[in-house]
Amino acid sequence: MRYRTIGNGRTSFDVSTICLGTMFFGTRTDVDTSFAILDRFVEAGGTFIDTADNYNAWVGGHGRDSEDLIGRWLADRGVRDRVRIATKVGAAKKDPALPLSNTPPTNFEGLSAEVVQRQAHESARHLGVDRLDVLYGHVDDRETALAETVGAFGALQDEGLVGISGISNVALWRVVEAREEALRQGVAPYGLVQQQYSYVYPEPKLGRHNFVTPDLLDYAASTGSDGRPPLAVTAYSPLYQGALTRRDKPLWGGAEHPTSRARIATLHEVAREIGATPNQVALAWLLGADVPVIPIVGASSVAQLEEALGAAELDLEAEVRARLDAEPVLPREGAASARPAA
Ligand SMILES: NC(=O)c1ccc[n+]([C@@H]2O[C@H](COP(=O)([O-])OP(=O)(O)OC[C@H]3O[C@@H](n4cnc5c(N)ncnc54)[C@H](OP(=O)(O)O)[C@@H]3O)[C@@H](O)[C@H]2O)c1
Repeated sequence: MRYRTIGNGRTSFDVSTICLGTMFFGTRTDVDTSFAILDRFVEAGGTFIDTADNYNAWVGGHGRDSEDLIGRWLADRGVRDRVRIATKVGAAKKDPALPLSNTPPTNFEGLSAEVVQRQAHESARHLGVDRLDVLYGHVDDRETALAETVGAFGALQDEGLVGISGISNVALWRVVEAREEALRQGVAPYGLVQQQYSYVYPEPKLGRHNFVTPDLLDYAASTGSDGRPPLAVTAYSPLYQGALTRRDKPLWGGAEHPTSRARIATLHEVAREIGATPNQVALAWLLGADVPVIPIVGASSVAQLEEALGAAELDLEAEVRARLDAEPVLPREGAASARPAA
């Protein structure tokens, strides 16, 4: 396993470069399997674990299933000091009677000061910890004044409940404004941004702000020096939920286009040549990029985790990386998304 330092200019600590996602732990992934995955992750040197206060309310859980399970596991194994826990607030159900949705009406609680304060303390209670190493806003909230949200995360960092704050599913300009607002208020700024990112890309869509962009990576690279607080990027769905290797998994969210299929073919070709698996190449591509990204890997079995762990120390040769980077990203003109001329 390898490690890197994350921070917000005031607090910093090391985390494993692979983060373990626990979105289905305690719901789709049963308790014994979840414990076995967590055990193996820590045994392999993994220290960074990702959860949220709504995992998993859309597969029949009550929403605190994952936090509760991690809390039980931490207590049972006595490993609190060996791991860094990241959780998220703001996308739990506002109205418990309605479902959660990614499209309006979303039914998210949002990031008002009241929600951020209350749910951060609730998360700590469910996890059985006195400190949340990382707390993200799960989804940006444009209904609440940015200054209020920033102040709320700042206060939690000041009081010591939160180590480093972050934000997820957000437009870059909102991250920049939030960090500038934090400096104006004299509180710690976001030190992490969590977006979707993988070797295949969905087609851009107006209003969609949840995918890592070159601009975000460029901005992250510009931080951490000259009095600019650091900002690290974490990536969810780095394996495209299995679609890089499995035909039973869809290239959802607008990524099903011929260019993605061509990229996947190259991924498989490269993997065969270097004796790794396509999933490992996809993770190594993120880990070793010019602006390295921390993949948050989901696993529903120890075998899946084992495969991901095999990428932790896989360095891609410059020539291999250049081949992967040279593949076009978006549909070529005249391909799947072409519209008839007006
Ligand atoms: N901030 C956000 O809005 C947000 C959104 C989504 C996720 N997340 C976080 O990111 C984490 C990871 O997200 P994700 O689950 O979408 O990521 P992912 O790593 O792209 O997908 C994980 C899924 O891929 C399949 N898979 C994994 N390893 C495999 C292997 N070796 N061979 C074949 N299939 C394999 C499994 O599907 P099966 O279980 O079906 O076999 C597994 O559940 C979550 O747990 C959560 O912590 C955050």
